[in-house]
Amino acid sequence: MIGCEHGRRIAHVLSDADVVAVTDAYPDAAKQLAAELPNAAVRATGEELIADETVDAVVITSPASAHEEYAIAAIESGKPVFCEKPLASGERACRTIMAAEVATGRRLLQVGFMRRYDPAYRALKQTLDDGAIGRPLIYHSTHRTTAAPQTWSGDMAIIDAAVHDFDISRWLLGEEFTTIQVRAGKQNSHELRDPLVLILDTTSGVVVVVETSLNLGYGYDIRGEVVGEFGTAALADPGRALVRSARVRDLGTPRGWQERFADAYDIELQAWIDAVRAGEGATGPSAWDGYVAQVVSEAGITALHSGEPVAVELIEAPGIYE
Ligand SMILES: NC(=O)c1ccc[n+]([C@@H]2O[C@H](COP(=O)([O-])OP(=O)(O)OC[C@H]3O[C@@H](n4cnc5c(N)ncnc54)[C@H](O)[C@@H]3O)[C@@H](O)[C@H]2O)c1
Repeated sequence: MIGCEHGRRIAHVLSDADVVAVTDAYPDAAKQLAAELPNAAVRATGEELIADETVDAVVITSPASAHEEYAIAAIESGKPVFCEKPLASGERACRTIMAAEVATGRRLLQVGFMRRYDPAYRALKQTLDDGAIGRPLIYHSTHRTTAAPQTWSGDMAIIDAAVHDFDISRWLLGEEFTTIQVRAGKQNSHELRDPLVLILDTTSGVVVVVETSLNLGYGYDIRGEVVGEFGTAALADPGRALVRSARVRDLGTPRGWQERFADAYDIELQAWIDAVRAGEGATGPSAWDGYVAQVVSEAGITALHSGEPVAVELIEAPGIYE
């Protein structure tokens, strides 16, 4: 899915970059995408693609379990790499990627936390930074989708969906989390543990409440609202219906992430391309951000299964991420 989205964007929409090679474990998928792109060759493996002299920078959009090997291969080749979220499929793999990057002495990797580039989130952050509602006290982050992929298990609601909410909360508030607890209430009519309510505390005591409801049928509905000392600020929600239901006419809720975050993906990838062309390696969300989000996710999974609050424990940030 997102590999095709990013490939088409880079080749057809964005400036100053092109897709010169694609690969996929399922070769027909690579061939199909290459057929849509004017200058893309098909390479047999990720390693072959990364070693290709015509490849200046690498975009990884395989599943999380197949991020680490390619991220490290790209970093060790000195090639900037954009890696979709989650950074990798475990905390240890995230640390291995960070260690490879730290060994080069500079940032080369950006993680695909595109919400940081979304105009509505940027406006919300500006409002907070301007002090318009005073110090944030509570942040509500709502993550509702039409249908979770059939292959998802209960843990993926946290590791693949809520991971976006963890990252955007850290970015909006400028703080780390200290604890997480998770409540799974009444079950929706699906296999996934759905919906979930996740309650997190930050270092200064802000409470972040994340709701993941991933099988609501009506659309992709992302909300965020901060309660401050003397007011509230929410993500702009232009022209949406007041009633959202799978059983009434759709009145404007986006169907999926492709539509809701189209601008964010454009801005995110163009910023990455511009940084790469300027020789800056990477300037957006870092491997450290990917590592922190993974630690929070894993603490969340422990909390889901234990029913108890779980501490979020981070290593010290390596210097290149400060
Ligand atoms: N930022 C976002 O909003 C967003 C949205 C969707 C997906 N994602 C992330 O992007 C990644 C891919 O998600 P997707 O939904 O596009 O998945 P997908 O299953 O549609 O595509 C993954 C592709 O990777 C290929 N693949 C699997 N193992 C491979 C390997 N070892 N080497 C090479 N190719 C391999 C598969 O054949 C498949 O074509 C995930 O990490 C996901 O969390 C991010």
